[in-house]
Amino acid sequence: MRVLVLGGGGREHTICYVLSKSPKLEKLFCIPGNGGISEIAETTENISVTDFENIARFCKEKRIDLVIPGPEEPLVKGLRDNLEKEGIKVFGPDSFSSLIEGSKSFAKEIMNKAGIPTARFEVFDEPSKAKAYIEKKGAPIVVKADGLCAGKGVFVCETKEEAIKAVEKIMEEKIFGEAGNKIIIEEKLVGEEASYIVITDGFNFKTLPTSQDHKRLLDNDEGPNTGGMGAYSPTPLIDQELKKRIEEKIVAPTLKALEREGHPYLGFLYAGLMIVDKEPYVLEFNCRLGDPEAQVILPRIENDFLEIIEAVLEGNLNKVDLKEKEGAAVCVVMASKGYPGKYEKGKKIEGLDKALQIPGVIVFHAGTKKINNEFYTSGGRVLGITALDKDIPSAIEKAYKAVSMIHFEGVHYRKDIGKRAFKYLSGF
Ligand code: AMP
Ligand code: GLY
Repeated sequence: MRVLVLGGGGREHTICYVLSKSPKLEKLFCIPGNGGISEIAETTENISVTDFENIARFCKEKRIDLVIPGPEEPLVKGLRDNLEKEGIKVFGPDSFSSLIEGSKSFAKEIMNKAGIPTARFEVFDEPSKAKAYIEKKGAPIVVKADGLCAGKGVFVCETKEEAIKAVEKIMEEKIFGEAGNKIIIEEKLVGEEASYIVITDGFNFKTLPTSQDHKRLLDNDEGPNTGGMGAYSPTPLIDQELKKRIEEKIVAPTLKALEREGHPYLGFLYAGLMIVDKEPYVLEFNCRLGDPEAQVILPRIENDFLEIIEAVLEGNLNKVDLKEKEGAAVCVVMASKGYPGKYEKGKKIEGLDKALQIPGVIVFHAGTKKINNEFYTSGGRVLGITALDKDIPSAIEKAYKAVSMIHFEGVHYRKDIGKRAFKYLSGF
């Protein structure tokens, strides 16, 4: 198979990495890719991931059999709808089903119709009504922009004043543009967060290894929110019993609801969950794999990744026996100074070869560029150092050993990735 991956982060390097291990792969392409991806795929930087006309042309020229998008934006904007018209297969939902991430009010409507547990909410398209609602409800309260905001559209507010300011920023100052035409105001849930990701053909689904992200920039979950500073898998927070509840109460009814709408969902479905007193609630859905969750999930799958994707496209997913590897994986993100704000670029990365000599260590590149056989930083999140080992403590130790060997000027990483698991292991 000739496969094109879209995107250039750590998640996309991971997708390329597992694809490159498949005997079914003939040739791998990636738009735009990054330094690490360029070592295993033919990369092309001058086409945007939402330029469907040029992507279709590229696919025909390179005789691509299948396109796998990493990020949500091309899916929400209609990647699958556009490429299928040209006879090109896409592993991901159509634009209608991608609204499960692209519009928080759409996602809430689907959840309401299907009786899926989520925070109580109201939708507003007028700031005055939203503010009056906040005055009535009080704080804490959560304000969310409806559309895609690159992970920045959620304000968890501890006071009424903060919540009213969030409404003003989103609806009046329009800091997210059109994505803030509507807002959701919902109750704050207090519990433990987890990422629950399944692969589905719309009718059957297989649960991928469970994982937990670390969203805040600093140790002990302090500092601003980021795209994710590290992850580990599996998470002891989700035992077999909870898994069953999540699948029965959330995954299966969501897929059924989208099927009923006439748009069976195909691809990765990511439920961002809050576990409150052992009961799962949906905070959000994503129409893609998580980043850095992918970096710990995909390397823990025993099966040939391309074989699973093929089964989904052929509607044969029920015949796949998805096997999770024993042990655990931990990924520590190494980021540029200044991330998630303005960050520095062009710093030389050293020590990669030495770190890669540790058995069970994989270095996934995100914001890197390869110039004359050397790697330089070119993004906020630069590397995801993943370690596989027999259990979480050993994987943590190994990941940090590799991290200590790698250096670039201004590097920042969290020192406590994976430690949260100990809380659940001791019964919290
Ligand atoms: P979302 O993009 O909707 O997942 O929100 C981003 C982050 O905001 C989540 O990972 C949570 O940490 C937090 N969050 C979102 N909704 C709620 C809620 N209803 N209660 C508490 N925290 C929330
Ligand atoms: N790591 C969170 C996300 O990918 O949405």
